[in-house]
Amino acid sequence: MVTPLSWQTAPSTPVLNGNDIHVYYVNTSLFQDQIKELFHLLSSTEQNRAQNISHTKQKNTFIITKAFLRKILSQYLGAPEQQISLEIEKNGKPFLGSCHNSSIQFNLAHSHDKSILAFCLKTPLGIDLEKIRLISHAQKILTKYGSEQEKRSYNAVPEKHKKEAFLRGWTKKEALIKAQGHKMATHANKYAVNFSLFPKDKLFNVEMANENIQSWALYDLTIEDYVGTIALQRQNNKLSLWHV
Ligand SMILES: CC(C)(COP(=O)(O)OP(=O)(O)OC[C@H]1O[C@@H](n2cnc3c(N)ncnc32)[C@H](O)[C@@H]1OP(=O)(O)O)[C@@H](O)C(=O)NCCC(=O)NCCS
Repeated sequence: MVTPLSWQTAPSTPVLNGNDIHVYYVNTSLFQDQIKELFHLLSSTEQNRAQNISHTKQKNTFIITKAFLRKILSQYLGAPEQQISLEIEKNGKPFLGSCHNSSIQFNLAHSHDKSILAFCLKTPLGIDLEKIRLISHAQKILTKYGSEQEKRSYNAVPEKHKKEAFLRGWTKKEALIKAQGHKMATHANKYAVNFSLFPKDKLFNVEMANENIQSWALYDLTIEDYVGTIALQRQNNKLSLWHV
């Protein structure tokens, strides 16, 4: 039996090597009294984005997450937080500016008062996080976005596990889409995931040119009452789970 990894305190000088994946989770409710200092770590574009978010809790989550993104990248790159250059792909996926001459890849997600950030070298990765809660329209979402295989796998889940199984499956789908920098609205039906709870075979299909589902790795994450997935097209990774 494989013992699940536990979340450890993040090191102050992390080093990313080869097939490492470093995952950080941030409990944003612990940093509410540091909002002013964290806001100053953001770029002016990020500060403007934050100021346009009217919902205070969402605004603070945005600020805290972006500040930690900069803090962590600053540890890897040995550069001050404000000097980290971040750019955005056309579908919204952020990436490290070429001026850093670094192969660091990252992605992030937030849900309620938790954020999660993942980093690795070279291979683009996607991450998603969801608080376990009842999604009353789960069936409708699957009717709209799901394949026959996905619906069948979800329908076979015992009623008492359906809430968690839906969100675990959904985070697999989103993490795959985010790894490729796509959008759910346009690419949901390109990936078919297994909605069974902790299935041995997590993926049914990846409908992209030259894709081989065996080349994809999907890692389930659990943090208190949150579930998530990391997806990347690379096998044999070394995962470290840290909280800040
Ligand atoms: C990006 C997307 C795939 C996920 O967005 P989301 O679930 O709303 O938000 P998440 O918390 O997972 O991720 C947001 C972060 O991902 C990153 N991101 C944005 N667009 C991205 C993309 N196309 N690919 C990868 N990463 C992206 C950003 O860093 C963003 O954070 P920021 O806005 O603070 O900069 C979105 O396009 C989408 O399609 N969302 C659908 C949501 C949905 O249907 N949910 C149903 C819930 S059951």
